[in-house]
Amino acid sequence: MLPKRPLGKTGMEVSTLGLGTVKLGRNQGVKYPQRFKIPDDKEAAALLALAKDQGINLIDTAPAYGNSEQRLGKLLKGQRHDWLICTKVGEDFIDGQSVFNFSPEHTRSSVENSLRRLDSEVLDIVLIHSDGNDEAILQRHGTLNALAELKKEGKIRAIGMSTKTVAGGLLAAQQGDVVMITWNLNHRDEIPVADYCQQHGKGVLIKKALASGHAIVDAAPGDSSCHDPVQQSFTMIFAHPGVSSAIVGTINPQHLCANISACGPTLNLHSKRNTH
Ligand SMILES: NC(=O)c1ccc[n+]([C@@H]2O[C@H](COP(=O)([O-])OP(=O)(O)OC[C@H]3O[C@@H](n4cnc5c(N)ncnc54)[C@H](OP(=O)(O)O)[C@@H]3O)[C@@H](O)[C@H]2O)c1
Repeated sequence: MLPKRPLGKTGMEVSTLGLGTVKLGRNQGVKYPQRFKIPDDKEAAALLALAKDQGINLIDTAPAYGNSEQRLGKLLKGQRHDWLICTKVGEDFIDGQSVFNFSPEHTRSSVENSLRRLDSEVLDIVLIHSDGNDEAILQRHGTLNALAELKKEGKIRAIGMSTKTVAGGLLAAQQGDVVMITWNLNHRDEIPVADYCQQHGKGVLIKKALASGHAIVDAAPGDSSCHDPVQQSFTMIFAHPGVSSAIVGTINPQHLCANISACGPTLNLHSKRNTH
């Protein structure tokens, strides 16, 4: 079973691996190394059951991930309370194109739509889905204030931003509860954001921990000096005590199990002390 870590000071405890669900809802305009077929309901339900059985309690989705939210709403019927769901605002995927809108009005309607699609009374985590202009969004659009109002109304438990820059990540950490940053073997620039979050009690979610699969594809096969890239990635990320969870986007049950095993040496998976 995977251990859990606190999500900053939100009061929520998240499994150290979360399940990313881009591939449950969308296979157009994505940057994965291989083409893939979107799993059908039976396959998706089996993946979710396996994840839950292995101690995963965190699912990451977004309106921009095709019909991921809608599918999760149906697939998690009767087990919604077993999961913490993170979704986003600001990006929609319409007719094969990303469309960004960070206005307070759109933010509110996006959250209402996510509540309906996810068949939920409250969203556990809602993040601004940055288009790359992290600081401008935080300074000019009022998106986070709109999320803060929705939090006050009890529709959201924790708010924050999925950022793409260090300056934006730091600003989001100052203003919100949770930040989602990229950290993998090919990209280590955003570690200062995790440092800041650790010092200030903010939750840190890692996206693209395997560089969207490129960390594995790029590793030289048969090179004995080359460690397992999955294990290397998780050892690096989980050594940071500020990291709450790494959201890994797999639709392959074997990969899910391999990822959990690869966390073992770093997270003392077999130690009772860390097992919830
Ligand atoms: N907020 C944002 O702006 C943002 C951006 C990107 C991602 N995200 C979130 O973060 C999640 C993760 O990011 P990501 O999906 O881009 O990248 P990722 O988790 O780094 O990599 C996922 C890719 O790696 C492959 N993979 C996973 N485990 C593997 C293993 N053990 N062996 C071989 N291949 C493996 C997966 O293929 P298989 O399916 O075949 O396992 C998939 O193609 C997303 O699902 C999403 O929830 C958020």
